[in-house]
Amino acid sequence: MEEGSRERRTLRSLLVTGGAGFIGSNFIHYLFKQGDFKGKVVNVDKLTYAGNLENLEEIDKTYGQEGQKRYFFRQADVCDFKTIEEIFIQHDIDTVVHFAAESHVDRSIHGPTDFILTNIIGTFTLLEITRKHWIDKGRSGVLFHHISTDEVYGSLEKDDEYFYENTPYDPHSPYSASKASSDHLVNAYHHTYGLPITLSNCSNNYGPYQFPEKLIPLMILNAVDGKKLPIYGDGMNVRDWLYVEDHCAAIYTVLRYGRTGETYNIGGENEQPNINVVRKICETLEELYPIAANRFIQPSANIQNYNDLITFVKDRPGHDWRYAINCDKIKEELGWKPSISFEEGLKKTIQWYLDNRQWIDNVRSGEYKKWIEKNYGER
Ligand code: NAD
Ligand code: TYD
Repeated sequence: MEEGSRERRTLRSLLVTGGAGFIGSNFIHYLFKQGDFKGKVVNVDKLTYAGNLENLEEIDKTYGQEGQKRYFFRQADVCDFKTIEEIFIQHDIDTVVHFAAESHVDRSIHGPTDFILTNIIGTFTLLEITRKHWIDKGRSGVLFHHISTDEVYGSLEKDDEYFYENTPYDPHSPYSASKASSDHLVNAYHHTYGLPITLSNCSNNYGPYQFPEKLIPLMILNAVDGKKLPIYGDGMNVRDWLYVEDHCAAIYTVLRYGRTGETYNIGGENEQPNINVVRKICETLEELYPIAANRFIQPSANIQNYNDLITFVKDRPGHDWRYAINCDKIKEELGWKPSISFEEGLKKTIQWYLDNRQWIDNVRSGEYKKWIEKNYGER
Protein backbone atom coordinates (compact mmCIF):
# COMPACT_ATOMS: atom_id res chain seq x y z
CA MET A 1 0.00 0.00 0.00
CA GLU A 2 1.29 3.49 -0.84
CA GLU A 3 2.44 5.94 1.82
CA GLY A 4 -0.63 7.73 3.15
CA SER A 5 -3.00 5.39 1.31
CA ARG A 6 -6.50 4.73 2.68
CA GLU A 7 -7.30 1.86 0.38
CA ARG A 8 -8.63 -1.14 2.31
CA ARG A 9 -5.97 -3.75 3.10
CA THR A 10 -6.77 -7.44 2.86
CA LEU A 11 -5.55 -9.38 5.88
CA ARG A 12 -4.38 -12.81 4.71
CA SER A 13 -1.80 -14.23 7.07
CA LEU A 14 -1.47 -12.53 10.44
CA LEU A 15 1.28 -13.08 12.96
CA VAL A 16 -0.28 -12.08 16.29
CA THR A 17 2.35 -11.92 19.02
CA GLY A 18 1.22 -12.19 22.64
CA GLY A 19 -2.13 -13.57 21.50
CA ALA A 20 -2.62 -15.59 24.69
CA GLY A 21 -2.57 -12.45 26.84
CA PHE A 22 -5.44 -10.17 27.78
CA ILE A 23 -5.79 -7.88 24.76
CA GLY A 24 -4.25 -10.31 22.24
CA SER A 25 -6.76 -13.07 23.06
CA ASN A 26 -9.67 -10.62 22.96
CA PHE A 27 -8.37 -9.45 19.58
CA ILE A 28 -8.28 -12.99 18.15
CA HIS A 29 -11.87 -13.56 19.35
CA TYR A 30 -12.88 -10.24 17.80
CA LEU A 31 -11.19 -11.03 14.49
CA PHE A 32 -12.91 -14.37 13.99
CA LYS A 33 -16.28 -12.72 14.70
CA GLN A 34 -15.80 -10.36 11.75
CA GLY A 35 -17.64 -11.69 8.71
CA ASP A 36 -15.25 -9.97 6.32
CA PHE A 37 -12.13 -11.54 7.85
CA LYS A 38 -11.18 -14.57 5.76
CA GLY A 39 -7.50 -14.84 6.62
CA LYS A 40 -5.54 -16.98 9.07
CA VAL A 41 -3.99 -16.16 12.44
CA VAL A 42 -0.69 -17.48 13.74
CA ASN A 43 -0.54 -16.79 17.45
CA VAL A 44 3.01 -16.74 18.81
CA ASP A 45 3.26 -16.48 22.56
CA LYS A 46 5.94 -17.40 25.08
CA LEU A 47 3.22 -18.20 27.66
CA THR A 48 4.69 -16.25 30.53
CA TYR A 49 2.60 -16.01 33.72
CA ALA A 50 0.33 -13.61 31.76
CA GLY A 51 -0.28 -15.90 28.79
CA ASN A 52 -3.13 -18.38 29.06
CA LEU A 53 -4.26 -20.67 26.24
CA GLU A 54 -7.51 -21.30 28.07
CA ASN A 55 -8.50 -17.84 26.75
CA LEU A 56 -8.50 -19.32 23.25
CA GLU A 57 -9.97 -22.76 23.85
CA GLU A 58 -13.08 -22.00 21.79
CA ILE A 59 -11.08 -20.48 18.95
CA ASP A 60 -8.82 -23.51 18.82
CA LYS A 61 -11.80 -25.89 18.77
CA THR A 62 -13.49 -23.94 16.00
CA TYR A 63 -10.67 -22.70 13.79
CA GLY A 64 -7.64 -24.72 14.89
CA GLN A 65 -8.76 -28.15 13.71
CA GLU A 66 -8.05 -29.90 10.43
CA GLY A 67 -10.53 -28.92 7.72
CA GLN A 68 -11.08 -25.54 9.38
CA LYS A 69 -7.43 -24.65 9.83
CA ARG A 70 -7.27 -20.85 10.11
CA TYR A 71 -5.83 -20.61 13.62
CA PHE A 72 -2.35 -21.80 14.61
CA PHE A 73 -0.54 -21.56 17.91
CA ARG A 74 3.22 -21.73 18.49
CA GLN A 75 4.85 -21.29 21.87
CA ALA A 76 7.90 -19.11 21.18
CA ASP A 77 9.80 -16.11 22.46
CA VAL A 78 9.72 -13.02 20.23
CA CYS A 79 13.44 -12.63 20.96
CA ASP A 80 14.14 -15.98 19.26
CA PHE A 81 15.03 -14.88 15.71
CA LYS A 82 15.42 -18.38 14.26
CA THR A 83 12.06 -19.75 15.42
CA ILE A 84 10.10 -16.63 14.54
CA GLU A 85 11.75 -16.49 11.12
CA GLU A 86 10.81 -20.11 10.50
CA ILE A 87 7.17 -19.33 11.39
CA PHE A 88 7.30 -16.26 9.17
CA ILE A 89 8.42 -18.31 6.18
CA GLN A 90 6.15 -21.27 6.88
CA HIS A 91 3.02 -19.09 7.01
CA ASP A 92 4.05 -16.44 4.48
CA ILE A 93 3.13 -13.72 6.98
CA ASP A 94 1.85 -10.44 5.47
CA THR A 95 0.66 -8.68 8.65
CA VAL A 96 2.26 -8.51 12.07
CA VAL A 97 0.12 -7.40 15.02
CA HIS A 98 2.61 -7.04 17.84
CA PHE A 99 1.02 -7.28 21.30
CA ALA A 100 3.67 -9.37 23.08
CA ALA A 101 5.13 -7.46 25.99
CA GLU A 102 5.76 -7.46 29.67
CA SER A 103 2.90 -5.17 30.60
CA HIS A 104 2.59 -4.57 34.33
CA VAL A 105 4.09 -1.35 35.75
CA ASP A 106 4.41 -2.78 39.28
CA ARG A 107 6.36 -5.79 38.01
CA SER A 108 8.64 -3.48 35.99
CA ILE A 109 9.49 -1.65 39.20
CA HIS A 110 10.37 -4.89 41.00
CA GLY A 111 12.33 -6.42 38.11
CA PRO A 112 12.87 -4.57 34.84
CA THR A 113 15.05 -7.12 33.00
CA ASP A 114 12.27 -9.01 31.21
CA PHE A 115 10.76 -5.69 30.13
CA ILE A 116 13.98 -4.68 28.40
CA LEU A 117 14.37 -8.08 26.76
CA THR A 118 10.83 -8.65 25.51
CA ASN A 119 9.69 -5.11 24.86
CA ILE A 120 12.87 -3.79 23.27
CA ILE A 121 14.91 -6.75 21.99
CA GLY A 122 11.75 -8.67 21.08
CA THR A 123 10.42 -5.78 18.98
CA PHE A 124 13.84 -5.29 17.38
CA THR A 125 13.96 -9.01 16.49
CA LEU A 126 10.56 -8.86 14.79
CA LEU A 127 11.55 -5.72 12.91
CA GLU A 128 14.73 -7.38 11.66
CA ILE A 129 12.73 -10.37 10.39
CA THR A 130 10.27 -8.13 8.56
CA ARG A 131 13.15 -6.13 7.09
CA LYS A 132 14.78 -9.29 5.78
CA HIS A 133 11.63 -10.92 4.42
CA TRP A 134 9.60 -7.94 3.29
CA ILE A 135 11.91 -5.04 2.50
CA ASP A 136 14.87 -6.95 1.09
CA LYS A 137 12.49 -9.04 -1.06
CA GLY A 138 10.41 -6.04 -2.21
CA ARG A 139 7.12 -7.42 -0.80
CA SER A 140 4.04 -5.24 -1.13
CA GLY A 141 0.72 -5.30 0.75
CA VAL A 142 2.46 -5.97 4.07
CA LEU A 143 2.06 -4.17 7.43
CA PHE A 144 3.74 -4.19 10.84
CA HIS A 145 1.29 -2.89 13.45
CA HIS A 146 2.76 -2.11 16.84
CA ILE A 147 0.54 -1.96 19.93
CA SER A 148 1.67 0.64 22.41
CA THR A 149 0.45 2.62 25.37
CA ASP A 150 -0.40 6.19 26.36
CA GLU A 151 2.13 5.80 29.20
CA VAL A 152 4.99 6.68 26.81
CA TYR A 153 3.79 10.31 26.89
CA GLY A 154 4.47 10.63 30.62
CA SER A 155 2.20 12.06 33.27
CA LEU A 156 -0.24 15.00 33.21
CA GLU A 157 -1.28 17.44 35.89
CA LYS A 158 -4.97 18.07 36.59
CA ASP A 159 -5.41 20.91 34.09
CA ASP A 160 -2.86 19.86 31.46
CA GLU A 161 -3.81 19.33 27.81
CA TYR A 162 -4.45 15.79 26.56
CA PHE A 163 -1.83 13.52 25.00
CA TYR A 164 -1.83 13.97 21.22
CA GLU A 165 0.02 11.86 18.64
CA ASN A 166 2.77 14.50 18.50
CA THR A 167 3.15 14.92 22.29
CA PRO A 168 6.86 14.42 23.07
CA TYR A 169 7.69 11.13 24.74
CA ASP A 170 8.48 11.32 28.47
CA PRO A 171 8.20 7.81 29.95
CA HIS A 172 8.67 7.39 33.70
CA SER A 173 8.55 3.68 34.60
CA PRO A 174 10.78 0.89 33.28
CA TYR A 175 7.62 -0.43 31.56
CA SER A 176 6.80 2.81 29.74
CA ALA A 177 10.47 3.47 28.95
CA SER A 178 10.76 0.05 27.31
CA LYS A 179 7.56 0.63 25.33
CA ALA A 180 8.78 4.08 24.26
CA SER A 181 12.01 2.53 23.08
CA SER A 182 10.13 -0.05 21.01
CA ASP A 183 7.94 2.69 19.48
CA HIS A 184 11.06 4.61 18.43
CA LEU A 185 12.51 1.49 16.82
CA VAL A 186 9.30 0.85 14.87
CA ASN A 187 9.27 4.44 13.58
CA ALA A 188 12.98 4.25 12.78
CA TYR A 189 12.44 1.15 10.59
CA HIS A 190 9.77 3.04 8.69
CA HIS A 191 11.92 6.12 8.14
CA THR A 192 15.17 4.27 7.45
CA TYR A 193 14.12 1.15 5.56
CA GLY A 194 10.62 2.10 4.38
CA LEU A 195 9.01 -0.66 6.45
CA PRO A 196 5.22 -0.18 6.23
CA ILE A 197 4.17 0.33 9.83
CA THR A 198 1.30 1.68 11.87
CA LEU A 199 1.39 2.33 15.58
CA SER A 200 -1.36 2.75 18.14
CA ASN A 201 -1.06 4.16 21.65
CA CYS A 202 -3.96 3.18 23.84
CA SER A 203 -5.21 4.08 27.30
CA ASN A 204 -6.00 1.57 30.11
CA ASN A 205 -8.05 -1.41 28.95
CA TYR A 206 -10.44 -3.54 30.97
CA GLY A 207 -12.66 -6.52 30.19
CA PRO A 208 -12.68 -10.34 30.15
CA TYR A 209 -9.46 -12.38 30.42
CA GLN A 210 -7.44 -9.66 32.15
CA PHE A 211 -4.87 -11.12 34.52
CA PRO A 212 -6.00 -10.29 38.06
CA GLU A 213 -3.00 -8.17 38.98
CA LYS A 214 -4.26 -5.01 37.22
CA LEU A 215 -6.59 -2.60 39.01
CA ILE A 216 -10.05 -3.60 37.76
CA PRO A 217 -9.85 -7.43 37.88
CA LEU A 218 -7.88 -7.32 41.14
CA MET A 219 -10.56 -5.21 42.81
CA ILE A 220 -13.42 -7.36 41.46
CA LEU A 221 -11.85 -10.60 42.66
CA ASN A 222 -10.76 -9.26 46.02
CA ALA A 223 -14.22 -7.83 46.65
CA VAL A 224 -15.94 -11.09 45.73
CA ASP A 225 -13.67 -12.89 48.19
CA GLY A 226 -14.17 -10.29 50.92
CA LYS A 227 -10.49 -9.26 50.79
CA LYS A 228 -9.15 -5.70 51.19
CA LEU A 229 -9.23 -3.39 48.14
CA PRO A 230 -5.77 -1.78 48.20
CA ILE A 231 -5.76 1.73 46.76
CA TYR A 232 -2.36 3.32 46.19
CA GLY A 233 -1.84 6.77 47.75
CA ASP A 234 -5.01 8.86 48.02
CA GLY A 235 -6.77 7.18 45.09
CA MET A 236 -6.90 10.44 43.10
CA ASN A 237 -4.60 9.31 40.25
CA VAL A 238 -6.51 9.45 37.00
CA ARG A 239 -6.64 6.90 34.18
CA ASP A 240 -8.70 6.83 30.97
CA TRP A 241 -10.51 3.48 30.70
CA LEU A 242 -11.47 1.72 27.46
CA TYR A 243 -13.43 -1.52 27.13
CA VAL A 244 -11.13 -4.04 25.46
CA GLU A 245 -13.51 -4.85 22.59
CA ASP A 246 -13.47 -1.18 21.58
CA HIS A 247 -9.67 -1.36 21.50
CA CYS A 248 -9.86 -4.46 19.30
CA ALA A 249 -12.24 -2.67 16.91
CA ALA A 250 -9.81 0.25 16.71
CA ILE A 251 -6.89 -2.05 15.88
CA TYR A 252 -8.94 -3.85 13.20
CA THR A 253 -9.78 -0.44 11.70
CA VAL A 254 -6.14 0.68 11.66
CA LEU A 255 -5.00 -2.64 10.13
CA ARG A 256 -7.42 -2.21 7.22
CA TYR A 257 -7.52 1.53 6.70
CA GLY A 258 -4.65 3.11 8.67
CA ARG A 259 -2.16 5.24 6.77
CA THR A 260 1.27 3.66 6.78
CA GLY A 261 3.83 5.50 8.87
CA GLU A 262 1.12 6.95 11.12
CA THR A 263 0.45 6.78 14.84
CA TYR A 264 -3.12 6.66 16.13
CA ASN A 265 -4.08 7.43 19.73
CA ILE A 266 -6.90 5.26 21.07
CA GLY A 267 -8.85 6.15 24.21
CA GLY A 268 -12.13 5.72 26.02
CA GLU A 269 -12.87 9.43 26.57
CA ASN A 270 -13.51 8.24 30.09
CA GLU A 271 -11.17 9.73 32.69
CA GLN A 272 -11.71 8.49 36.23
CA PRO A 273 -9.79 8.81 39.51
CA ASN A 274 -8.95 5.32 40.81
CA ILE A 275 -11.15 5.73 43.87
CA ASN A 276 -14.21 6.35 41.65
CA VAL A 277 -13.43 3.24 39.62
CA VAL A 278 -13.24 1.13 42.76
CA ARG A 279 -16.44 2.63 44.19
CA LYS A 280 -18.24 1.90 40.88
CA ILE A 281 -17.00 -1.68 41.02
CA CYS A 282 -18.38 -2.00 44.55
CA GLU A 283 -21.74 -0.50 43.51
CA THR A 284 -22.07 -2.72 40.45
CA LEU A 285 -21.06 -5.80 42.38
CA GLU A 286 -23.70 -5.04 45.00
CA GLU A 287 -26.25 -5.03 42.16
CA LEU A 288 -24.98 -8.23 40.46
CA TYR A 289 -23.87 -10.21 43.51
CA PRO A 290 -25.21 -8.65 46.74
CA ILE A 291 -23.13 -9.23 49.85
CA ALA A 292 -26.08 -11.00 51.44
CA ALA A 293 -25.91 -13.65 48.69
CA ASN A 294 -22.11 -13.84 48.54
CA ARG A 295 -21.07 -17.39 49.51
CA PHE A 296 -17.41 -16.37 49.89
CA ILE A 297 -18.10 -13.80 52.64
CA GLN A 298 -19.17 -15.15 56.01
CA PRO A 299 -21.75 -13.11 57.99
CA SER A 300 -19.23 -13.16 60.87
CA ALA A 301 -16.90 -10.99 58.74
CA ASN A 302 -19.37 -8.19 59.45
CA ILE A 303 -19.08 -6.51 56.03
CA GLN A 304 -22.24 -4.55 55.17
CA ASN A 305 -21.03 -3.08 51.91
CA TYR A 306 -18.25 -3.86 49.42
CA ASN A 307 -17.03 -0.27 49.96
CA ASP A 308 -16.10 -1.30 53.51
CA LEU A 309 -13.22 -3.29 52.00
CA ILE A 310 -11.51 -0.20 50.54
CA THR A 311 -8.13 0.48 52.13
CA PHE A 312 -5.49 3.07 51.28
CA VAL A 313 -1.96 1.68 51.04
CA LYS A 314 1.57 2.99 50.36
CA ASP A 315 1.80 4.70 46.98
CA ARG A 316 3.55 3.17 43.95
CA PRO A 317 7.06 4.68 43.54
CA GLY A 318 7.02 7.33 40.79
CA HIS A 319 3.24 6.88 40.38
CA ASP A 320 2.12 8.79 37.26
CA TRP A 321 -0.58 11.27 38.26
CA ARG A 322 -2.85 11.33 35.22
CA TYR A 323 -3.13 9.87 31.72
CA ALA A 324 -5.63 11.44 29.31
CA ILE A 325 -5.60 10.80 25.61
CA ASN A 326 -7.07 12.70 22.68
CA CYS A 327 -8.29 10.27 19.99
CA ASP A 328 -9.75 12.75 17.48
CA LYS A 329 -7.35 11.59 14.76
CA ILE A 330 -8.65 8.01 14.55
CA LYS A 331 -12.23 9.25 14.99
CA GLU A 332 -12.03 11.81 12.20
CA GLU A 333 -9.74 9.97 9.80
CA LEU A 334 -10.88 6.36 10.18
CA GLY A 335 -14.36 6.68 11.69
CA TRP A 336 -13.70 4.66 14.86
CA LYS A 337 -15.04 5.75 18.24
CA PRO A 338 -15.50 4.10 21.63
CA SER A 339 -18.94 2.50 21.70
CA ILE A 340 -19.29 0.91 25.13
CA SER A 341 -19.96 3.15 28.13
CA PHE A 342 -17.98 2.63 31.33
CA GLU A 343 -21.13 1.52 33.19
CA GLU A 344 -21.97 -1.05 30.51
CA GLY A 345 -18.37 -2.26 30.15
CA LEU A 346 -17.92 -2.61 33.88
CA LYS A 347 -21.15 -4.58 34.20
CA LYS A 348 -20.10 -6.97 31.40
CA THR A 349 -16.64 -7.35 32.95
CA ILE A 350 -17.88 -8.05 36.47
CA GLN A 351 -20.47 -10.51 35.15
CA TRP A 352 -17.72 -12.28 33.16
CA TYR A 353 -15.56 -12.69 36.28
CA LEU A 354 -18.58 -13.91 38.26
CA ASP A 355 -19.38 -16.47 35.56
CA ASN A 356 -15.82 -17.73 35.12
CA ARG A 357 -14.73 -18.81 38.56
CA GLN A 358 -12.90 -21.82 37.15
CA TRP A 359 -10.76 -19.58 34.89
CA ILE A 360 -9.93 -17.46 37.92
CA ASP A 361 -9.07 -20.43 40.12
CA ASN A 362 -6.87 -21.90 37.37
CA VAL A 363 -5.03 -18.63 36.82
CA ARG A 364 -4.53 -18.10 40.51
CA SER A 365 -3.34 -21.62 41.26
CA GLY A 366 -1.08 -21.90 38.25
CA GLU A 367 -3.32 -24.79 37.23
CA TYR A 368 -3.56 -23.42 33.71
CA LYS A 369 0.09 -24.30 33.11
CA LYS A 370 -0.77 -27.98 33.68
CA TRP A 371 -3.76 -27.53 31.38
CA ILE A 372 -1.44 -26.32 28.66
CA GLU A 373 0.87 -29.30 29.00
CA LYS A 374 -2.07 -31.68 28.98
CA ASN A 375 -3.79 -30.16 25.97
CA TYR A 376 -0.94 -28.71 23.97
CA GLY A 377 1.95 -30.91 25.04
CA GLU A 378 2.51 -32.18 21.53
CA ARG A 379 2.95 -28.71 19.94
P1 NAD B 1 -0.60 -9.21 28.93
O1 NAD B 1 0.50 -9.12 29.92
O2 NAD B 1 -1.95 -9.66 29.39
O3 NAD B 1 -0.17 -10.18 27.73
C1 NAD B 1 1.11 -10.19 27.19
C2 NAD B 1 1.27 -11.48 26.41
O4 NAD B 1 2.59 -11.46 25.82
C3 NAD B 1 1.20 -12.74 27.29
O5 NAD B 1 0.39 -13.71 26.67
C4 NAD B 1 2.64 -13.20 27.40
O6 NAD B 1 2.77 -14.60 27.55
C5 NAD B 1 3.20 -12.73 26.06
N1 NAD B 1 4.65 -12.53 26.10
C6 NAD B 1 5.38 -11.90 27.06
N2 NAD B 1 6.68 -11.96 26.76
C7 NAD B 1 6.79 -12.62 25.57
C8 NAD B 1 7.86 -12.97 24.73
N3 NAD B 1 9.13 -12.67 25.06
N4 NAD B 1 7.61 -13.63 23.58
C9 NAD B 1 6.32 -13.97 23.24
N5 NAD B 1 5.27 -13.67 23.99
C10 NAD B 1 5.49 -13.00 25.15
O7 NAD B 1 -0.66 -7.77 28.26
P2 NAD B 1 -1.92 -6.99 27.63
O8 NAD B 1 -2.55 -6.19 28.68
O9 NAD B 1 -2.71 -7.92 26.80
O10 NAD B 1 -1.13 -5.98 26.68
C11 NAD B 1 -0.87 -6.29 25.31
C12 NAD B 1 -0.15 -5.12 24.66
O11 NAD B 1 -0.97 -3.95 24.76
C13 NAD B 1 1.18 -4.78 25.31
O12 NAD B 1 2.09 -4.45 24.29
C14 NAD B 1 0.86 -3.56 26.18
O13 NAD B 1 1.99 -2.74 26.30
C15 NAD B 1 -0.22 -2.90 25.36
N6 NAD B 1 -1.18 -2.08 26.12
C16 NAD B 1 -1.85 -2.61 27.18
C17 NAD B 1 -2.80 -1.83 27.85
C18 NAD B 1 -3.60 -2.38 29.00
O14 NAD B 1 -4.35 -1.62 29.63
N7 NAD B 1 -3.53 -3.66 29.31
C19 NAD B 1 -3.02 -0.50 27.45
C20 NAD B 1 -2.30 0.01 26.36
C21 NAD B 1 -1.39 -0.80 25.69
P1 TYD C 1 -2.78 -0.68 36.69
O1 TYD C 1 -4.00 -1.48 36.42
O2 TYD C 1 -1.59 -1.38 37.24
O3 TYD C 1 -2.43 0.05 35.31
P2 TYD C 1 -1.34 1.25 35.00
O4 TYD C 1 -0.41 1.38 36.12
O5 TYD C 1 -0.68 0.75 33.77
O6 TYD C 1 -2.16 2.48 34.77
O7 TYD C 1 -3.15 0.51 37.66
C1 TYD C 1 -4.16 1.45 37.35
C2 TYD C 1 -4.18 2.49 38.44
O8 TYD C 1 -4.62 1.88 39.64
C3 TYD C 1 -2.82 3.08 38.72
O9 TYD C 1 -2.97 4.46 39.04
C4 TYD C 1 -2.34 2.32 39.96
C5 TYD C 1 -3.64 2.02 40.68
N1 TYD C 1 -3.67 0.76 41.46
C6 TYD C 1 -4.08 0.79 42.80
O10 TYD C 1 -4.41 1.84 43.36
N2 TYD C 1 -4.08 -0.39 43.48
C7 TYD C 1 -3.72 -1.56 42.93
O11 TYD C 1 -3.73 -2.62 43.62
C8 TYD C 1 -3.32 -1.57 41.55
C9 TYD C 1 -2.90 -2.86 40.87
C10 TYD C 1 -3.31 -0.39 40.86
